[in-house]
Amino acid sequence: MRSIRALAVASEIYPIIKTGGLADVIGALPVALNAEGIEVRTIVPGFPDVMQALGMAEEVLYYPNLQGGIARLLCGSCGELDIFVIDAPHLYARLGNPYIAPDGKDWPDNGIRFAALGRVAADIGLGAVPSFVPDVVHAHDWQAGLTHAYLHYSGRRRPATVMTIHNLAYQGQFPREMLSAIGLPLESFTIDGVEYYGTIGFLKAGLLFADRITTVSPTYAVEIQAPEAGMGLDGLLRARANQLSGILNGIDTSVWNPATDPNIASTFNSGDLDKRAANKVALQRRLSLRIAPDALLFGVISRLSWQKGLDLLLANLSTIVGDGTQIALLGSGDSDLESRFKAAAASNPDQISASIGYDEKLAHQIQAGVDALVVPSRFEPCGLTQLCALRYGAVAIVSRVGGLADTVIDADEAAIAGGKATGVQFGPVTVENLAGAIRRAGTLFNDKPVWQSIQKKGMTVDVSWCNSARRYADLYRQIVKTRANSS
Ligand code: ADP
Ligand code: GLC
Repeated sequence: MRSIRALAVASEIYPIIKTGGLADVIGALPVALNAEGIEVRTIVPGFPDVMQALGMAEEVLYYPNLQGGIARLLCGSCGELDIFVIDAPHLYARLGNPYIAPDGKDWPDNGIRFAALGRVAADIGLGAVPSFVPDVVHAHDWQAGLTHAYLHYSGRRRPATVMTIHNLAYQGQFPREMLSAIGLPLESFTIDGVEYYGTIGFLKAGLLFADRITTVSPTYAVEIQAPEAGMGLDGLLRARANQLSGILNGIDTSVWNPATDPNIASTFNSGDLDKRAANKVALQRRLSLRIAPDALLFGVISRLSWQKGLDLLLANLSTIVGDGTQIALLGSGDSDLESRFKAAAASNPDQISASIGYDEKLAHQIQAGVDALVVPSRFEPCGLTQLCALRYGAVAIVSRVGGLADTVIDADEAAIAGGKATGVQFGPVTVENLAGAIRRAGTLFNDKPVWQSIQKKGMTVDVSWCNSARRYADLYRQIVKTRANSS
């Protein structure tokens, strides 16, 4: 059987360019899919970091005018990843965050920039690069959503298509006046096309035209079909419920491996958990927290945004500090949250540390050193930090939403007795319920045998991509077969 070829379309790819978990997925899933007999190539915009990471590359397409300038499609690789890169300096040669200009606002031409991504991806889907004609085109998040609209309106025979939602909060809406500039026909601007509340909806288009829709956990797949989490798209998602499923993310278990991690003071595994203690002391030292091996130490590694519910943690700070508990926070984002955490750290430096910024090495050290990782998200499509926490023996304290609900088993009495517990869950997401979960974690922490059993159980959970890659591969095979039969 010939292996299936899949084109992944995305705006971020770890380790080259990353603003969140999307990049982790795009960097790890192709490698896991290869093991399932799927040949994946990923198309990404030629941001400066991408151009730099791309070694030897071949020009496979030339565009005299792609959204206002010359562009080339380059084909190359970076580590184990095979990539197509759109070299279009007028769209992508901008330093810093890929979406946000130095003034803190979205780049005004984001619609054009990511329409170009969809356009070139669709061209590849339609066979423009003879050496790589995909059977499946798999678009991720709004930045890639228009790919499926271009494929649809080409009127040509197209490959099978998948649209994956990593976060429904970001939908990519742009003014209707852009329609002709991005090369979509006038008749596409209807409710059965790209129109979305009077704008051009990139994610909406992807969700409408894809053969199959996936999101990154089974619970989020259910949540987004209701108005509360559906963010305006629940009606469409309900209408397409038969084509919608949830496939959990994994993590790259070679990057996140406590037994070999070069970033941490003391490597360990579930059989020698006592070696973990050295990481806690090293972290307390690095962050200038009081060196206190027995104090309960919480970690947070997160974008600081409303989604992540960290204002609920702030609301609980005085109790946490009063109990002698410590917090090591690493994050960036919302400036109000940044300054509130900085202020809390300044007034309690022995117990609270707030590292504002992005620091991968510190993220590993926090996972290896803290006793518990707190993830109080209001909604969480999957979440990756709790998966890393499981693997690193940091007990996850999570809200019962989305992928957090699917990946952590609450330490209730039955789960503890059955040796199944891997963390602490709370819900609904309120300040009081988080307070309750923190109290419960404190009690468990004081019962060392129970705490250790939770840590050990968490470390045995399979958080790799293996199972999920198999599910994506099965999905690809199904839709490729369906398309072949229908033509
Ligand atoms: P989201 O994609 O919503 O931000 P995820 O939990 O899926 O949330 O993924 C976040 C990823 O980014 C994880 O790999 C996490 O370790 C990483 N991360 C988040 N904030 C930081 C930070 N300040 N420094 C380093 N890594 C971070
Ligand atoms: C999004 C979600 C997060 C998910 C990640 C990767 O950023 O917020 O929950 O883990 O995408 O799918």
